[in-house]
Amino acid sequence: MRIVSIVSQKGGAGKTTLAINLAVAASSDGSRVTIVDLDPQATAANWGDRRQSEHPTIVSAQAARLPQIVSQLNNQTDWIFIDTPPAIGNTTLAAVKIADVIMIPSRAAIFDLDTLGATLELVRMGQKEASVVLNAVPHRGQDAEEAKAVIIGYGTQIAPFTLGHRAAFQHAATLGLGVLEHEPSGKAALEIRELFGWLQSRF
Ligand SMILES: Nc1ncnc2c1ncn2[C@@H]1O[C@H](COP(=O)(O)OP(=O)(O)OP(=O)(O)O)[C@@H](O)[C@H]1O
Ligand SMILES: [Mg+2]
Repeated sequence: MRIVSIVSQKGGAGKTTLAINLAVAASSDGSRVTIVDLDPQATAANWGDRRQSEHPTIVSAQAARLPQIVSQLNNQTDWIFIDTPPAIGNTTLAAVKIADVIMIPSRAAIFDLDTLGATLELVRMGQKEASVVLNAVPHRGQDAEEAKAVIIGYGTQIAPFTLGHRAAFQHAATLGLGVLEHEPSGKAALEIRELFGWLQSRF
């Protein structure tokens, strides 16, 4: 069982987008995949309600129950993706502590990069390391390169693949789909495949 937690203090950074799309990618070879939604906004759980599919399994949970839920899922699922609320607190810390891999999505804008420090502090409090995934990168401009320099300054790892700002992510989510299901040959799907391949290589 591989446990991937997706955390960031910043709202709208792309936590749920990463969780649902990586979960769909992980399911595509028949692996058993569970999304644990720790966010009271229940965005991932609501996405699951819009799906016509039983896969991935989605569990809405509270952080205090996370260890029990994960131990119940042992031998029943191959992957767990944990989606978290946009806050630094016990819920995010619980997700950090239980994770094998921690991903921090961040937009390349300075306001988003400013909050990275607090998220990384929490990761260190949980005695873990995380990788920042640049998300919604604009098609033009130097934003991604400038953001990478800021992230390196924080002394943390950057995923070698980024996600562009692509309408497919929004359209797919609205339909209760991942981009791999909605537009399998599109650029968003290609990016998710690359990012998931890198995630697999972390185990
Ligand atoms: N790469 C992208 N391209 C275009 N739109 C995106 C991208 N990533 C996320 N979005 C959109 O941005 C919005 C916020 O994304 P998402 O819900 O994944 O963020 P979040 O970090 O989970 O937010 P919250 O902190 O509120 O839980 C959504 O409408 C989503 O569809
Ligand atoms: Mg979310």
